[in-house]
Amino acid sequence: ALPRDLEGRRVVVSAGGTREPLDPVRFLGNRSSGRQGYALARVAAQRGASVTLVAAHTADLGDPAAVEVVRVGSAAQLREAMHATVKGADAVVMAAAVADFRPAALAQSKIKKSGAEPDPLALAKNPDILVELVKAREPGQVIVGFAAETGDASGDALHHGREKLARKGCDLLVVNVVGDGQAFEVPDNAGWLLGADGTETELARGSKALLASRIWDAVHTRL
Ligand code: C5P
Repeated sequence: ALPRDLEGRRVVVSAGGTREPLDPVRFLGNRSSGRQGYALARVAAQRGASVTLVAAHTADLGDPAAVEVVRVGSAAQLREAMHATVKGADAVVMAAAVADFRPAALAQSKIKKSGAEPDPLALAKNPDILVELVKAREPGQVIVGFAAETGDASGDALHHGREKLARKGCDLLVVNVVGDGQAFEVPDNAGWLLGADGTETELARGSKALLASRIWDAVHTRL
């Protein structure tokens, strides 16, 4: 059985991939299944927390038991839902795959095929929600970010993770190596948990529920 060590705590978790609309029928999206975020929400509820799950697009996952689910589509909607729900939260986990860019214009009706050459797609930058949440952080609030890093030639996902942790200013960063069948659309996960205090914990390959438990352990010691 899991410890009830999050009893009396309120946590907010984002999950899934945002969809950035181009017109009423099209969007730019990503491959996030939402499984890690859902596992985080489920495990937090099992450990006694009061949980709000802000869910963008996910695979066909059942709602976790005893969790308040707020559904969103785009990064703009996810941003609004996060700012509305993090007030008074003890911990916030940004597990969602938020699109970095959105189509610069949203067409009100379906975009028609024009001539032989497609029009270039103009993009605009989305605000970094995690950075905003860190700026608005309440005293004692623990904020966790995620980083999906592709293991490059130098294999330096950890180095990139450290940089990202510093840039975002969150308390913990979960680094996943993606691109070799890991992290997206699969049941297992692995990586590292980096702390702003300099700690570096390897998350051995395991179920997303097991990783969620390790992440909540690290959050719990910081509460
Ligand atoms: O910079 P990158 O997209 O790799 O950062 C990933 C982390 O930042 C995740 O925790 C993700 O939820 C968050 N993020 C965000 N807003 C964005 C982009 C990413 O909150 N616009």
